[in-house]
Amino acid sequence: MSAAVSSALAERYGSLGAVPPPGPSNAVVESLLSHRAVRAYLDRSLPPGTLETLVAAAQSAPTSSNMQAWSVVAVQDPGRKSRLATLAANQGFIRQAPLFLCWIADLSRLERLGQAAGQPLEGLDYLESYMVALVDAAIAAQNALVAAESLGLGTVYVGALRNHPREVADELSLPPNAFAAFGLCVGWPDPAVTAAVKPRLPQSLVLHRERYEAPAEEPRSIAGYDEALADFSERNGMGRSTWSGRMLKRVASGASLSGRDTMAATLKAMGFGLR
Ligand SMILES: Cc1cc2nc3c(=O)[nH]c(=O)nc-3n(C[C@H](O)[C@H](O)[C@H](O)COP(=O)(O)O)c2cc1C
Repeated sequence: MSAAVSSALAERYGSLGAVPPPGPSNAVVESLLSHRAVRAYLDRSLPPGTLETLVAAAQSAPTSSNMQAWSVVAVQDPGRKSRLATLAANQGFIRQAPLFLCWIADLSRLERLGQAAGQPLEGLDYLESYMVALVDAAIAAQNALVAAESLGLGTVYVGALRNHPREVADELSLPPNAFAAFGLCVGWPDPAVTAAVKPRLPQSLVLHRERYEAPAEEPRSIAGYDEALADFSERNGMGRSTWSGRMLKRVASGASLSGRDTMAATLKAMGFGLR
């Protein structure tokens, strides 16, 4: 294992004393382990062809039955970026990033195909079809993220794009059966603003061998992770809140879902059957 990978692993798990044993590694693994969300960007444009390279990386991702049930809307117009930022919890870094990619779970292409061919489309009305589109969109987006990071660019996903799905659909002129699942900012990281590697739960909590079993040490390990994440948050100027505290707040009620508690009804109104 290279020194760079060892140090990336130590940053990811180190403060918990739970660094996984050495394994095979290369530049791709090193890049993946070094991921960190970037929320401050330079006022600098991307090299020509970057968008197309990222989309080619995204299209190279696996896709369920080769359905390719996703699309991406690349937003670079400052006015549109700003309106989307306002809809997405007013997160200012969306305005800063030169490129804002909106990832669409897209069953509308298949709908148009079926309509043109006069074929039945009942299968699109099932929750399963929506799940296929959502999973495809997420896998494609992550390929684009990995490509962007490998080129030295910074990124951050924007789930808050789901706070106002209908307004976002209007802004992006989405047809029925197309849903903006999340955004992805892409830009040059501002070196003046530290973006640190965020520790994760120990592998003993997420890795099950052969069969799922909630580990006996789960409460103790989570308490340890709470400490590590509180230290991380404090070091990065975000106060000393624990992971447990934040997560429990996040799932406490429908009201804690930032307006997304009505998602099932909204998706149905946008054309998805979800049967
Ligand atoms: C689907 C998705 C949606 C996200 N939405 C937001 C968001 O709206 N705003 C934000 O600041 N970060 C967002 N994030 C970034 C996460 O907060 C971040 O990935 C997580 O805290 C772990 O930090 P890291 O990416 O630096 O390792 C999102 C991440 C994902 C995967």
